[in-house]
Amino acid sequence: MSTEPIDATSSPAWAALRTHKESFAPNLRQWFANDPQRGTKYTLRAGDLHVDLSKNLFTEETLALLSKLADHVQLQDRIDAMFSGEHINVTEDRAVLHTALRRPQNAMPELVVDGQNVDVDVHAELEKVYDFARRVSDGQWRGVTGEKISTIVNIGIGGSDLGPVMAYEALKPYVRSGLEVRFVSNIDPTDVGETLCDLDPRTTLFIIASKTFTTLETLTNARLARRWLWDGLADRDVAMTDDDARRQAVARHFVAVSTALDKVADFGIDPDNAFGFWDWVGGRYSVDSAIGTSLAVAIGPERFAEFLAGFHAIDEHFRSTPWKENVPALMGLLNVWYTNFLDAHTHAVLPYAQYLHRFPAYLQQLTMESNGKSVRWNGSPVTGETGEVWWGEPGTNGQHAFYQLIHQGTRLVPVDFIAVANPEHDLVDGDHDVHELFLANFFAQSKALAFGKTADEVRAEGTAEDIVPARVFSGNRPSTSIMAADLSPSTLGQLIALYEHITFVQGIVWGIDSFDQWGVELGKQLALEVAPAVAGDQAALAEQDSSTRSLIEFYRENRR
Ligand code: F6P
Repeated sequence: MSTEPIDATSSPAWAALRTHKESFAPNLRQWFANDPQRGTKYTLRAGDLHVDLSKNLFTEETLALLSKLADHVQLQDRIDAMFSGEHINVTEDRAVLHTALRRPQNAMPELVVDGQNVDVDVHAELEKVYDFARRVSDGQWRGVTGEKISTIVNIGIGGSDLGPVMAYEALKPYVRSGLEVRFVSNIDPTDVGETLCDLDPRTTLFIIASKTFTTLETLTNARLARRWLWDGLADRDVAMTDDDARRQAVARHFVAVSTALDKVADFGIDPDNAFGFWDWVGGRYSVDSAIGTSLAVAIGPERFAEFLAGFHAIDEHFRSTPWKENVPALMGLLNVWYTNFLDAHTHAVLPYAQYLHRFPAYLQQLTMESNGKSVRWNGSPVTGETGEVWWGEPGTNGQHAFYQLIHQGTRLVPVDFIAVANPEHDLVDGDHDVHELFLANFFAQSKALAFGKTADEVRAEGTAEDIVPARVFSGNRPSTSIMAADLSPSTLGQLIALYEHITFVQGIVWGIDSFDQWGVELGKQLALEVAPAVAGDQAALAEQDSSTRSLIEFYRENRR
């Protein structure tokens, strides 16, 4: 396997795709008419996911060329390299082993990487998390006043927040009764203020989740939470006057999740109350590590194990299925086709499942922090476009907001629709099963996008001629429909793993390191540099550019 990125854009497959594109005239109506089996032919199974790719813009030839492209960039070798723990995160010289987090116990052959028996460590840490989850739920773990914990507050940001909150929201029906989890991420004091304002410190437990345990937002919020705890306990006549009392309060109300256990201790959290993971787990790939502790407490160890098994099912599918039936590979390659050949700039994810309302936000970090890069993993410039803007909202809300642009705008927006067959709330409205009304929208949208409505069809409805153009739908707007029987812990794990691997495939074709995130550093550094000016330091203010200076001046003049 080449250690250097292979330039896909100078490959014969890329040239052939370019030529293919020249004469590419997608016509989904025609394609479906010519091939009545198109729908079933391009509907694939990955684990429990039923994935219909047929309404995407491709022919057999497109798929054949994309497969050649995958071979050219040695995709299979790169997959194997990831799963076996090679240091494919080149700029940080790290293995990329989130797939190891969900290997079943006693999986063979054992995974030993850089001298570490990964399986043993992963399962030992999982056991610790599970034990904690059990102790919180059965009331063995109590607050400093002896009361049972009823609210967990996860404090983290980025991957230490988006995964846990998305999964908690998605799996709400599985949350144990008597327990609520809340999430604080933003350094905007509104976030911590609003989240804590109605809580009782005696029954609240904080999980401080930070891979590095250096993140400004998380540590600031953790300190605010600690102050809130001490003050709140004191208000309830719990003596908080000496260091020992305060230490004990922290010991009973704070746990941490981090790869930097020394820093956890510096904060005052007993390392015995900390859950670890490893530098080979990227933040945005970490919901299945101890970063998911809040979720494990909420849904319990058995359900969390099902969640992990879901990921693993897709891992196995991805590493061992030929391209023709490999769902993450095909979805990733189609995204390359759209981005690099059909000029798509964005990709929408539209879950027809209210519980998945945070899934698009979660995917934004996964995809954009991974693939929003303009240099390759050897430092050379990329040779084509990378990293679409990912976005979305649950259907049907989006239908009444931005679908207009997807249906009739000038831009090509590939869409992923996601739905489940069984609702959690089985409601009827008169004679109507409401979930069926909801899903009718899910089925209708991909149909409308694919097949559109011609001018003649509009006219046939009796529309006045001058309004006909406004009511025509071009069709040939691509979408993938993903369905599962239920939104269970397992199917959620499968969905997440699916998108992790789609992201990986795109990164390999583009030759980029999908596992670093240097692009977030400059803003963080400048925030620290600007802070004194914001606080009123005139010399620091004078050093700012004229725009930044005037913004800060406006702030200072208007701050009460
Ligand atoms: O935004 C950059 C980033 O490093 C993300 O990759 C990460 O998920 C987030 O910050 C939080 O980092 P940490 O878990 O170290 O607090």
